[in-house]
Amino acid sequence: MHWTLFTGAALLAQAIGHPTRQNDISCPVVFDGRIPQKSTGSSFVKGELSYDPSYVLGANLTWADVLRFPKGPQSLFDNSTSKNVEVTIDDRSIFTPSPTNRQTGFRRAELQPKPANATDSVTGIKTLHFSLKTDHARALNYSHEYQLVWLENQDYSANQFTIGTGTPYGSTNTSPKDARSLFILGTSASSPQQTLFKTAFTPDVWHNFGLVLDFNANKVEVFYSKGSDSLKRKTKFLANDLSNLGQYHFGVLKKPTGPGGIDITKQGFQEGGIHEGVVYGGIFEENSAKGCISVARGVKGKTS
Ligand SMILES: *[C@@H]1O[C@H](CO)[C@@H](O)[C@H](O)[C@H]1NC(C)=O
Ligand SMILES: *[C@@H]1O[C@H](CO)[C@@H](O)[C@H](O)[C@H]1NC(C)=O
Ligand SMILES: *[C@@H]1O[C@H](CO)[C@@H](O)[C@H](O)[C@H]1NC(C)=O
Ligand SMILES: *[C@@H]1O[C@H](CO)[C@@H](O)[C@H](O)[C@H]1NC(C)=O
Repeated sequence: MHWTLFTGAALLAQAIGHPTRQNDISCPVVFDGRIPQKSTGSSFVKGELSYDPSYVLGANLTWADVLRFPKGPQSLFDNSTSKNVEVTIDDRSIFTPSPTNRQTGFRRAELQPKPANATDSVTGIKTLHFSLKTDHARALNYSHEYQLVWLENQDYSANQFTIGTGTPYGSTNTSPKDARSLFILGTSASSPQQTLFKTAFTPDVWHNFGLVLDFNANKVEVFYSKGSDSLKRKTKFLANDLSNLGQYHFGVLKKPTGPGGIDITKQGFQEGGIHEGVVYGGIFEENSAKGCISVARGVKGKTS
């Protein structure tokens, strides 16, 4: 009851142009991955931030080589104390987790929340927030498939969900319009490969997501908005397998192009001379066990 009244007041305040801003995030925060204004690439290298200092990066690269902090409009959940971060890839972005596993099929760099495998962020009912934006100076090549945000399970055998763009690897009939969409892929028993949500990846504007992840019931509900609009519910709760814990990735994994039946981690075609990147903002996760979801700074909404 109190909760409903509060939401009503917040929505009214928003409607008359004075959103309540006492607390940026209206629900209990589980992970705050927003980037403090003063941080630099070296802050990431030193492990001063909420992200792993050494994963996932090309061999011999550091975060100081890979991250940029572009100015420009901030995302829905950033403010004067935080800033944008861009994850870039180039020809050096070849992840080599061991000498015998040199992933030449991919170009990749991804921020991973620490501590790794934190069960609190992959149990219960949580909402994962993040915003994405293209960089026209480091455009993606939509002939390739990209993963931009995903949850990878703890034995690395699959992703529970993946936000991606581009031409799905192996596809021969993707229209240019579809290739420039942002899609959320998932998996369920009845639908091993399913698209949970799809929208145009309009260049140079923020795309804001709130993914309500019900790890108890294996369901996902998608909230989304563009620019500085408040998040709106875009799907009902959809069955999706969220089991087997794991880790979040925020960054660019560019798959190769090529034929089916190859090991795309090591084979396939990657053009040389690339300089690509994606801008991230407002990364955090909140507890939605009681139906609470932040839909804008200081504005509470309700999950289904
Ligand atoms: C990384 O550095 C090591 C040691 O200097 C070198 O042997 C290796 O070839 C480098 N790897 C790449 C991909 O540059
Ligand atoms: C900005 O966000 C931070 C982190 O949520 C919060 O502590 C701070 O109060 C906010 N500042 C303003 C000016 O809204
Ligand atoms: C996460 O847990 C799995 C399984 O225990 C382990 O193989 C993996 O190395 C862990 N990841 C990190 C980054 O610690
Ligand atoms: C995009 O990627 C394809 C396949 O790698 C490549 O042939 C093409 O030259 C690239 N286009 C641009 C504009 O970089």
